[in-house]
Amino acid sequence: MADIINAEYPMSDFREIIVSEEEIKGIICRIANEINQNYAGKKLLVCGILKGAFIFTSDLIRQIKIPLEVTFIQASSYGNGSTSQGKVKVTEFSDLGNYNNFDILVVDDILDTGNTLCRLKDFLRERGFKNIEFCTLLDKPERRESKIDVKYIGKQIANEFVVGYGLDFNEKYRSLPFIASLHEKMYENTLKT
Ligand code: IMP
Ligand code: MG
Repeated sequence: MADIINAEYPMSDFREIIVSEEEIKGIICRIANEINQNYAGKKLLVCGILKGAFIFTSDLIRQIKIPLEVTFIQASSYGNGSTSQGKVKVTEFSDLGNYNNFDILVVDDILDTGNTLCRLKDFLRERGFKNIEFCTLLDKPERRESKIDVKYIGKQIANEFVVGYGLDFNEKYRSLPFIASLHEKMYENTLKT
């Protein structure tokens, strides 16, 4: 496994491993246990945010032991270059209007400025959801611009660009089983969130 990863992406692309495969598993177990307790007896819709959260969502739902339905939405920011300012364009893959008697748990890869989740909350309220909670695997608290209450957070990390386990840099590195900080030489002037 390590050889395959190294052949694809040399370890020199990364500064350090921030969350190992083992640590990710532990985080998912902890969060799934909380969800099992908090949503017992409720109608739960888990909504992953594409693309970054597709792996986290898939692993998380398999540790949740209560009935649930799952959908995805894609949220892309536009308006101000490559940062997550400006407007958020939302694409649905199921008609969310059919689910508004469900409690919705939105799952994202990383909480950064908070702008995306803040706008998604308004979007989901407009679609009729009353109980909206958020879960993110990672959190960069230093970068926050919008106030957003995220109930389930996997791990707080420092303000550095990370890849792997679904998170990309220019669409690369999503398939890594761990999360690593990208070496500065890889992005220089082209940092894209
Ligand atoms: P924000 O909270 O609206 O700023 O946006 C969060 C989104 O930005 C996440 O869902 C990621 O897609 C992306 N993002 C933020 N930080 C990183 C990172 O370090 N690596 C990869 N993507 C990131
Ligand atoms: Mg994302």
